[in-house]
Amino acid sequence: MAKRYFLESDNGGGIRSIVKHWIYGERPVPPFPQTVQIQTLSGCNARCQFCPNGHTTNRLSMGSMDEDLFRKIVNEVVQHPVRRISPYLMNEPLADPRLPDLIRYITERKRRGTSTSISTNATYLTSDMGQRLIESGLDSLMISFHGIRKETYETSMGNLDWETHLNQVNQFIELRRRGKSKKPVVTVTMVHTATLDQELEEIRDYWNSRGVIVRIHTLENRSHPWVDGKAINIKPMKPYSNCDRLMGQAYLLWNGDVVLCCVDWERTTILGNVTNQSVESVWQGESYTAYRRKYLAGNIGGTLCEGCKVQDEGDFKFKPSWSLQGLIRGERYPYTPLPPPFPLQPTKKTLPVRAR
Ligand SMILES: C[S@@+](CC[C@H](N)C(=O)[O-])C[C@H]1O[C@@H](n2cnc3c(N)ncnc32)[C@H](O)[C@@H]1O
Ligand code: SF4
Repeated sequence: MAKRYFLESDNGGGIRSIVKHWIYGERPVPPFPQTVQIQTLSGCNARCQFCPNGHTTNRLSMGSMDEDLFRKIVNEVVQHPVRRISPYLMNEPLADPRLPDLIRYITERKRRGTSTSISTNATYLTSDMGQRLIESGLDSLMISFHGIRKETYETSMGNLDWETHLNQVNQFIELRRRGKSKKPVVTVTMVHTATLDQELEEIRDYWNSRGVIVRIHTLENRSHPWVDGKAINIKPMKPYSNCDRLMGQAYLLWNGDVVLCCVDWERTTILGNVTNQSVESVWQGESYTAYRRKYLAGNIGGTLCEGCKVQDEGDFKFKPSWSLQGLIRGERYPYTPLPPPFPLQPTKKTLPVRAR
């Protein structure tokens, strides 16, 4: 259930107003975002069937974030009690070879209650990259692996090769396990579509046998007609009416632009730029406030939010259970890896070129 918010500037003041918000369980929009996503490099090498990425990358300005800008943002963000800093946004984070160093920069400065997290399609998760990520102090690594069978995976992830990616993910899980490092916590994630719905149990068993949590994200249309057109939902799509991203999360592009949220693929709603302004001043600025005011009043006609829909269900997790044997062996979860659904064959495909 999404939280309900109000704008302190529109509070009206007085005891009646405070009591009204309290009765409705509403809270003020926080003075600083609780989570911050920072795109260090634009673009993605994959073409997932449910993702607008491939329909925007060649039309929008692309680039990588200047490291001084990155440091300026992080230096400010770590002054605040943010819950999470995620150095990616609508891109493939590991396509940026600087990423482990950038994460380390955050690790060395962040507060105790702040975690770092990225989501990757694993194309660039080589053993060298894996080792650097472990050493960077990253807290959470989400690996997008949509389906466990070759055909399902390759249908879901467009141009990515199943054998190569399954091997890379398994190698990373092994690397992390052997190194006995507690971080990053690894979660395999996927979007719940008709393409993989039939294999949910197989997916759970495969990854749980490797001690990995599986998280299923509900399908969103990402306010993009292209996703709607794919008709891969298994349940009806409903308006994303209880979304609170706008109230707690900030989304910064590589050039410093602050966009509405992680579905703003076309960069339709730019609320400020942090190159010459602070994150805080953009967050509290007039553009953000005006948009939030409209949103909270239900006045979303003509905005990106108007077209935003989500499959009629919540995200869910398959969490591996603990076993006494595993605990005695010093393992967190039972570790008896199942073989892949089909024998792995040498790949015939070449790896996609690195996203720019
Ligand atoms: C846009 S991706 C960027 C990071 C990275 N390239 C990846 O795939 O993990 C971030 C997350 O959005 C999810 N995603 C993409 N399109 C989606 C959609 N239409 N509905 C729900 N989640 C989606 C991906 O599965 C992934 O977990
Ligand atoms: S890997 Fe991530 S960003 Fe790339 S196409 Fe797939 S979901 Fe989109």
